[in-house]
Amino acid sequence: MTSPESPLILRAARREPTPVTPVWLMRQAGRYLPEYRAMRERHSFLELCRNPEAAAEVTLQPVRRFAVDAAILFADILLIVEPLDVGLEFAKGEGPVIHRPVRSEADVARLKPIDVESSVGSVFETVRLVRGALPPRVALIGFAGAPFTVASYVVEGGASRDYLHTKRLMYEAPAAWHRLMEVLADATATYLNGQIDAGAQLVQLFDSWVGALSPDDYRAYVLPHSRAVIRALRPGTPVIHFGTGTATLLPLMREAGGDVIGLDWRVDLDRGWSTLGPDVGVQGNLDPAVLLATPGTIRERVRAVLARAGGRPGHIFNLGHGVHQSTPVEHVGMLVDMVHELSAR
Ligand code: CP3
Repeated sequence: MTSPESPLILRAARREPTPVTPVWLMRQAGRYLPEYRAMRERHSFLELCRNPEAAAEVTLQPVRRFAVDAAILFADILLIVEPLDVGLEFAKGEGPVIHRPVRSEADVARLKPIDVESSVGSVFETVRLVRGALPPRVALIGFAGAPFTVASYVVEGGASRDYLHTKRLMYEAPAAWHRLMEVLADATATYLNGQIDAGAQLVQLFDSWVGALSPDDYRAYVLPHSRAVIRALRPGTPVIHFGTGTATLLPLMREAGGDVIGLDWRVDLDRGWSTLGPDVGVQGNLDPAVLLATPGTIRERVRAVLARAGGRPGHIFNLGHGVHQSTPVEHVGMLVDMVHELSAR
């Protein structure tokens, strides 16, 4: 049991009752915030991620503005692949680009090993700085990309719609695919344990694009690797396992592991939760687009998500995916306050 002074999110992740439903938002630190855009005028995205003082400052920005129950570490799921020497760049206005994508058995054989301390050691310092600055009621969430979602960038060379290169590697060179996934899973487990040791109180595994797969392909090509990451984590730190487009994958994601499963808005929260079963928490699942609507609509939709959760212990309120760049800042604050107000028991 956690103590009554523990952050609400930790209590919810352990399915203990809480006086209000805890809330944090994916991408709550980012470009919709003017103070973030000001930092970006002075630093490139990778510089921000790798400079512990700057990254800690960005992590804390939303906590100063909004009554969120957690801060999410400011970093990126792709930092970990830099030592693979695939040519990672965050191109202006384009998102991540990998200049030397990994598409064949020979490409996989050529990969340099990932030395976690040298590639993401600075992130551990960010975690220490943030934890030292946060009030005790606000939890710090660490994170990493799940092996599939990270592999999809490494193989596609950037964002994708159809994941054709990724699927071809999986189907045509399964041994190379599994090798790539093992390399990523090993590094990811070490990375997350480093964040936990540095002070992260929960960790989220982002499998953002896994909804591109059928259940059979998830079971064969992804599940063993996500499970290996989750099993390797220090016991006692709750794990949130998140993906989008996962309505048909939920039972398998549950099998892969996690104390809390993150749902997107394409599933009704109550149905998603009954598919998962009562012995796991759920996080979600307001459509981030609702934040572009009027306060009255936001309120109605918050109420609807809370109604589906039914006040059951184990619900963490979140968006179904990240805050969109064009979101009005005031709406984010309203959302957080509405969740607390409308869920008060
Ligand atoms: O507040 C937070 O959630 C913490 C910070 C965070 C970022 N990226 C900052 C970021 C987190 C948790 C991530 C994870 C991440 N990165 C994911 C999984 C989460 C998700 O939303 O699915 C993915 C797929 C990535 C890869 C990535 N990094 C993409 C696709 C992009 C482009 C995003 C876009 O909207 O254009 C990035 C860049 C990125 N990561 C930005 C931020 C704030 C924008 C960078 C900028 O300032 O230009």
